[in-house]
Amino acid sequence: MKGIILAGGSGTRLYPITEGISKQLMPIYDKPMIFYPLATLMSAKIKDILVITTPEDQKAFQKLLKDGSQFGINISYVVQPSPDGLAQAFILGEEFIGDDCCAMVLGDNIFYGSGFEKLLKSAKKNAEDGYATIFGNQVKDPERFGIMEIDESESGTYVVSVEEKPKHPKSNYAITGLYFYPKGVSEKAKEIVPSERGELEITTLNDMYLQEGNLKAEILGEGFTWFDTGTFDSELDAANMIRTIENNTDRIICCPEQIAYKEKWITKEQLEERAKVLKKNNYGKYLQRLVDKGK
Ligand code: G1P
Repeated sequence: MKGIILAGGSGTRLYPITEGISKQLMPIYDKPMIFYPLATLMSAKIKDILVITTPEDQKAFQKLLKDGSQFGINISYVVQPSPDGLAQAFILGEEFIGDDCCAMVLGDNIFYGSGFEKLLKSAKKNAEDGYATIFGNQVKDPERFGIMEIDESESGTYVVSVEEKPKHPKSNYAITGLYFYPKGVSEKAKEIVPSERGELEITTLNDMYLQEGNLKAEILGEGFTWFDTGTFDSELDAANMIRTIENNTDRIICCPEQIAYKEKWITKEQLEERAKVLKKNNYGKYLQRLVDKGK
């Protein structure tokens, strides 16, 4: 299975901050925003990752993430010349995806909570079985998101409808920026008719799977936190949450090096190398403790 991190977009909602830097390179407490979605794909045990950026920002992402070998993974890059919609990622990534299933996570989405790995595993299995999977999370401001209307019965959760930023939302289940698709997603993305705002909407793609009876949903329940860090406040809220948890526990949240070490994608020596590079702060000291503990 392949993975895409979509880190394009002009970030105008965060101007003036993002006039000079890509949003996904900005910090969320102690690490660049893109580390969080990267950790999500790595937690799904995806090792081939495509990072899609604007043409201007590609170099900065390459400087940060390199070829991925420091995390024991393969990172490649493609540019999105203009922000023509999230689903365009599957057209831009057609060659990268090849004849494989593909997950996509938006570069500004942070997922943290217990049982996540299990959910990722089941979404991966769905993709292998020919189903797409979206993840729902209850929110206070549903007009800001893609929304799924669901039917929760004893036998499971069924998606009834999906709508992109509806004025009158049918539910408060936001569709988070993490999607798993079966083989053939690029071909499907090419069939999308652009929306009124001229974009290839991810919600249209999800609706195509829904109409075929091939869309599944997982609900992120209690004990789970999801942030779309698209506003000043949500960015600060996310940073504060990460800071609080990390300062109260011996943990670095969404730490790509730790996931890589746990999965044995990097050696103890490689981890120690990273610990040395970051040794001046708690992140590096944490990595050194993992080396010392040997786990
Ligand atoms: C995008 C999607 C929306 C989804 C959201 C999650 O919106 O279009 O369906 O709910 O991401 O982060 P955006 O944040 O790009 O406006």
